[in-house]
Amino acid sequence: MTDPLLALRPWEAPEVTSWGRLPMNTVDRRAGALSLDGPWRFQLLPAPDAPVGAVWSSTRVPGAWTMQDTDDLPQYTNIRMPYTEFPPRSPADNPTGVYEREVEVPAEWSGRRIVLQVGAAESVLLVHVDGRPVGLSKDSHLAAEFDLTGVVRAGQRAAVRLTVVKWSDASHIEDQDQWWHGGITRSVLLYATDPLHLADVAVRARRDGELRVDCRVRDAAGALPGGWYVTGELDGLPLAQDTALDRAHEEDGRVSDFLGEVRLRTVVRAVRPWSAETPELYGLTVRLHRADGTVSDTARYRVGFRDVEVVGRDLLVNGERVFVRGVNRHDFHPLTGRTVSPEDMRADLVLLKRFGFNAIRTAHYPNDPALYDLADELGLYVVDEADIESHDHAHEIADDPRYLNAFVDRVSRMVLRDKNHPCVIVWSLGNESDYGAHHDAAAGWVRRHDPTRPVQYEGAAKRGWADPDVASDIACPMYAPLEDCLAHALSGRQTKPLIQCEYSHAMGNSNGTLADHWAAIEATPGLQGGFIWEFWDHGILQRVSDGRPAGRGGAGLYDNGVTAPGHRWAYGGDFGEPYHDGAFVADGVVFPDRTPKPVLYEHRELAAPVRLRCFRHEGLVLANHQHFRGLEWLAAEWELSLADGGTLTAPAELPSLRPGETAVVPLPFELPADGGEAWLTLRVTTAEDLPWAPRGTEVCAPQLRLRAAVPAKEEPAVAAAVEVDGDGLLVHPLLTAAPTLSLWRAPTDNDELGGIATRWRSWGLDALVRRPLSVHRDGVSVTVVAEYAGPTGVVRHRQVLTPVEGGLRIDEEAELPEEFDDVARVGSVFATVAGLDLLEWFGQGPWESYPDRSAGAPVGHHSLPVDALFTPYLRPQESGGRHGVRRFTLTAPDATGLAVTLDEPRQVSVTRYRAEDLTAVAHHDELVPRDGCVVHLDAAHRGLGTASCGPDTFVSYLVAPGVHRWSWTLRVL
Ligand code: GAL
Ligand code: MG
Repeated sequence: MTDPLLALRPWEAPEVTSWGRLPMNTVDRRAGALSLDGPWRFQLLPAPDAPVGAVWSSTRVPGAWTMQDTDDLPQYTNIRMPYTEFPPRSPADNPTGVYEREVEVPAEWSGRRIVLQVGAAESVLLVHVDGRPVGLSKDSHLAAEFDLTGVVRAGQRAAVRLTVVKWSDASHIEDQDQWWHGGITRSVLLYATDPLHLADVAVRARRDGELRVDCRVRDAAGALPGGWYVTGELDGLPLAQDTALDRAHEEDGRVSDFLGEVRLRTVVRAVRPWSAETPELYGLTVRLHRADGTVSDTARYRVGFRDVEVVGRDLLVNGERVFVRGVNRHDFHPLTGRTVSPEDMRADLVLLKRFGFNAIRTAHYPNDPALYDLADELGLYVVDEADIESHDHAHEIADDPRYLNAFVDRVSRMVLRDKNHPCVIVWSLGNESDYGAHHDAAAGWVRRHDPTRPVQYEGAAKRGWADPDVASDIACPMYAPLEDCLAHALSGRQTKPLIQCEYSHAMGNSNGTLADHWAAIEATPGLQGGFIWEFWDHGILQRVSDGRPAGRGGAGLYDNGVTAPGHRWAYGGDFGEPYHDGAFVADGVVFPDRTPKPVLYEHRELAAPVRLRCFRHEGLVLANHQHFRGLEWLAAEWELSLADGGTLTAPAELPSLRPGETAVVPLPFELPADGGEAWLTLRVTTAEDLPWAPRGTEVCAPQLRLRAAVPAKEEPAVAAAVEVDGDGLLVHPLLTAAPTLSLWRAPTDNDELGGIATRWRSWGLDALVRRPLSVHRDGVSVTVVAEYAGPTGVVRHRQVLTPVEGGLRIDEEAELPEEFDDVARVGSVFATVAGLDLLEWFGQGPWESYPDRSAGAPVGHHSLPVDALFTPYLRPQESGGRHGVRRFTLTAPDATGLAVTLDEPRQVSVTRYRAEDLTAVAHHDELVPRDGCVVHLDAAHRGLGTASCGPDTFVSYLVAPGVHRWSWTLRVL
C-alpha cells in the first residue's frame, strides 16, 4: 500500500507546507522533556520514493548527514541552485535520510497529551510512528511539533521514523549563500502536557513598566473543566488577572481555535528597562492550575521592558536613537555544519560583545532558539529573519501563487516563536527573494499580529528607500555606497531609518573604510548603522587524505585559525562539488574556529563607549558615547608612548557621566622636554566581572597624539664602502635578497573579485623584469638606476645607497607611468637570513592594519614573533601588514639582527612569504614558510576596500602614478 505521505509527493508541492503539524507557539518545552537526541538507526536512500532497505547504520541526532559518515558531502553554492530543475521541481537524485528509533513512552504519561518536537530538518520532514503517518513539515530552521496522543501508548514502546528529504520545492526558497546540508540539525524531544494546556503566551512589556500577558489554553477535547485558572508572577510578585479564564472571545467574527484565554497585568514601579547596554531581565512564570490548585502547566519567560518604534527617520529603542553596530550571523560550526550547542552560541555572542557589537541579523533564517535567550541575557538587538531566500529563481517565485502559503507560513511561525524576546527589535521577511505580493501578505500578517515592532525587507526597500508603500519600515540596503547613503540622509526626502542589512563584506583581508563609514554614520542624522557581512568564515574542517569532513572527531585539530597537519579549512569545491562558488563562503570576521580576525579590533575601537578629544591646552575632553548607561562599569589607565623613550602608565579616574555627556579632564602626564613623538592612550577595561567579560577585559583604547615627530636630521655620510653586485643589488651580510622595487601584492579576495588584480596582471605587475641601467659611485654613495618593465609600461627606479653611522641609508624614488593608475603598492622588498624571529616596532599595532583599516591599532611600542604577524586567511593573500610603522628591529634571541628606521610612518610587513608564494596556492595549509623573513617597506599601499561584494576603497586610499620617494636606514645590531 502506498504511504499517503509519499503519495502526496510533498517535495514537489509548494502549496503543502505542513500536514498534522501543531501551531507554533512561545511555550518552551525543552525543560522536563524526554530527549531523543543520540544514536538513531539510519539509512540514506537515493530518492524519497526509493524502498527502505533492510540494512541500517547508526547516526547521531542532531546532525547533518553531510557532515557524518555518508557519501553525500557538503556543497557550497551562493546564488545558483545546485541543480537545474526549476521550481517547484527537485532532481531525481535526491538523498533522503531515514531515521528510526524506539521510544519508551513513560508510564506516568497515561492520560496526558504527548507531543513530538523535531527542532529542525532540511528540507522536508515526514513523521511515522509505528508505521502510521503522523505528519509532515517544511521550513528547515524552525521546529515542528506533532500530537502523538492516541498514536503512542504510555508505558509502551513506539517506533518513531523521521524521513528527511534533502531537495524539495522548499529548497528553492532556502537558497541562502551557505553550504547545502541534509539532516536533522536541531534536537528532537518528546513531552507531555495535560490535555488542557498552555497553548501560547504573549508578553508585552513596555519601558514604562506596563506588563501585559495574554495566555491561551487549549484542550483537544474541547471542554473547559470547571474551576481551572491561570496565575502569573513576575520576580515572585503576583500579576493581576484582567479577565477570568473563559471561552475565547469571538468578537469581530474571529472564531478562535482556543478554548480559553486570560489576560494578566501589572505595572512595575521604577522599572529597569532592557536595552543591549542594560540587559535587565525579570522572571515571569505563568501557571495553569487545576480546580484544586495544583499546577497543570507552566511557562517561563525572561521579560525585558523596552519599547521599539520608528519615529520619522529614526529607529528608537526606549526613545533613544541607537546606533546599530551589527553583524550577520549564521548557525555554523566547522565540525557539525549547522548544529550548534548553547555553549557555541554563547561563545559567539560573548565574542561579539567583547568587540563592540550590539546587534545581530539572523541571516538568513530563524536561528537556534537558544540564541535568543542568550541575546536577551547578554544584551544584543536582533533582527529576526524568516527562512525565505529564493535567490536563483527570485522573480518567478515572488508572485507564484503556489508559494504564497509558504511565505506567510514561514514569517508567521518565526513571529509566533520569538515574539516574547526583548532582543528581537525588528522582523525581517527574508533575503534576496525579489519583491512580490507574498511579501506584502506576510508583512500584513506581522503588522496585525505584532504591531510593536517594525518590519524590514531589503528587496522591498530597494524599490525606494523613502517609499511609504513597500513592505519595509526601514531602508535596509546591502552594500550601498557610503556617498549614496549620505546623499539620501541629506536629501530632505528621507522618511525611514537607514540601516544597512549588509555592509563591509569581510571576505579575506577586507573591511577597508569601516572607520570612514562610522565617522559618517555618527556625524549624519538619518544614518544609524548596519550589519557587517558576516560573522563566520564557513570553513569546514576537512581531512586532506580522504577529503571528508573531520566531523565531531576533529575537535581540537585547530588553533588560532590554523588547522593541524593533514587538515584544512575546506571551502567551495573542496568536496569535489560539480558546481560551487569557491572561497566566497569564507567571508566572516572570525575564522572557522572563532579566532578573531584583525578587523574585530578595528570594530571594537570604532564602537568605543569612551571617546577622547584634545581641548586647548588645559586638558582633554572625555565623552560617554553610550546610549543608556554611565561609565561605572569601566576602569581605565593612562598610557604615554614616547617614540624616544618607553611607555609610561598612570591610573585614570573616569568621571561620572551620563550618556552623551562630556567632561574636561587634566592631562595626566607632563611631557618630557626632549622632543619626539608622544601618544596618549586611555586603556579602558571592564571594572567588574560581566557575563561576557571577566574584569580587566579591554573594551577600547582611544588615543590622541600629544606631540608630532620632529623631522629626522639627514644622517651624515661616513667613509665606508657600500657593496653592490654587478647588477647594482646591495650585498649585505643579513640579507638573502637585496631590496628591490615591488608594486605587487598577492591579490586579496577584494582585489580578485573586484577586478583590479586582473588589471595588475595585464600590466605584468606580478612579474616585472628588472634591468639595471647604471651603477654610479659618487663619493661614498652608490646610485643605482634600474628599469622595471612589464608588457604595457616601464617604471624607473633609483636607489641611492649611502653609508651612515652604523649602517646605510637608502633613498629611493620610483616613477610610475600614467597607465599604472592604481597599483597595489610602491615600495621595497628584501629577504633576511634565518633566525631573526622577533619583530619589535614603534608604530601602529599590535594587530594587522592597512591604510583604510587602521583605526583600531594604536601607535606605540609593539613586539611579536615573526610567525605571529601573519594572518592565515583561508585563501592565502596579502596579509600581515602593519600601518604607520616608524622603525623596527628584527632580532635573534641573542639580540643580534637588524634595525630599520623609516623616514615617515610607512606600511610594513614582515612574513615568511613572498607575494608569489601566496599567489601560488589555494589553501593556507599548502604554504611552505621560508626560513628567513620577507620584508616589505611601502612608500604607498593601496587600501583594502570591500570590492569582493560591495564598494571598493576610496580614491584617497589608492596609489597614484607619478613619482614616489621614500628613504630608510638599515643598521646591523
Ligand atoms: C548578499 C547576501 C548574502 C551573501 C553576501 C555575499 O548579497 O545576502 O547572503 O551572499 O551577499 O557574501
Ligand atoms: Mg543570496
